[in-house]
Amino acid sequence: MASKNKKLFSHETLETNVGLLIIFSILVISVAGLVQIVPLFYQHSTTQPTEGVTPYESLELIGRDVYIREGCVGCHSQQIRMLQSEVQRYGPYSLAGEFVYDHPFLWGSKRTGPDLARVGGRYSDDWHRVHLRDPRALVPESNMPAYPWLQKNSVENVNVQTRMKVLRTLGVPYTDEQIAEAPSKLKGKTEEDAIVAYLQSLGVAGRAAAAKAVAGEP
Ligand code: HEC
Repeated sequence: MASKNKKLFSHETLETNVGLLIIFSILVISVAGLVQIVPLFYQHSTTQPTEGVTPYESLELIGRDVYIREGCVGCHSQQIRMLQSEVQRYGPYSLAGEFVYDHPFLWGSKRTGPDLARVGGRYSDDWHRVHLRDPRALVPESNMPAYPWLQKNSVENVNVQTRMKVLRTLGVPYTDEQIAEAPSKLKGKTEEDAIVAYLQSLGVAGRAAAAKAVAGEP
């Protein structure tokens, strides 16, 4: 108390003045946030693709759009955390470089269902088809909705080339050749084919590199 008159600005001034406290708290959080966040934009491990990771094929890309439209992200996350329990259940934890071609990210935070970051290759295509049409046919206690209409909707006329060109402006390295042949890969395909292709691609390409990271190898 005695020092109150001597010092122009003491910690007590801050603690007893709500307005000042708020302003200084915001200042401290902003600076601390910038110090943590800004370097991530320049680090190779967060800006370069993990070894093996390539842009989505056209059918997978359309499947990803169906995944977004149907709100799968509301029940499924796509990020395996660095917890022993998650690594044991889902596989090697996710690396930032596995998501560099994801626009937008679909990490999610709600886990009504299992994490899907490494679901690619875990089941057959047929398993996914049966599961999407009627989840309870395979998992009796499942509360996942059925998506029977996906098998009926064609993706032949989806404008995949525009999507790929837009992604290219965001840094996804699609070649002119890939864009040119993209529509032919959607011939005769349905939304179900597309979403199954997308699911089967999840976490496969970066898996070996992630397993190395988990094992502590360079
Ligand atoms: C209301 C929440 C909910 C929504 C929405 C939902 N799911 Fe699920 N999902 C679950 C639950 C719960 C399970 C676990 C039981 C099962 O396998 O059916 C599951 C399981 C899965 C599995 C198996 C995962 C594994 O490792 O066994 C896949 C694949 C899957 N969902 C894909 C999807 C896709 C694709 C969509 C969107 C078209 C979707 N889910 C929408 C709740 C949901």
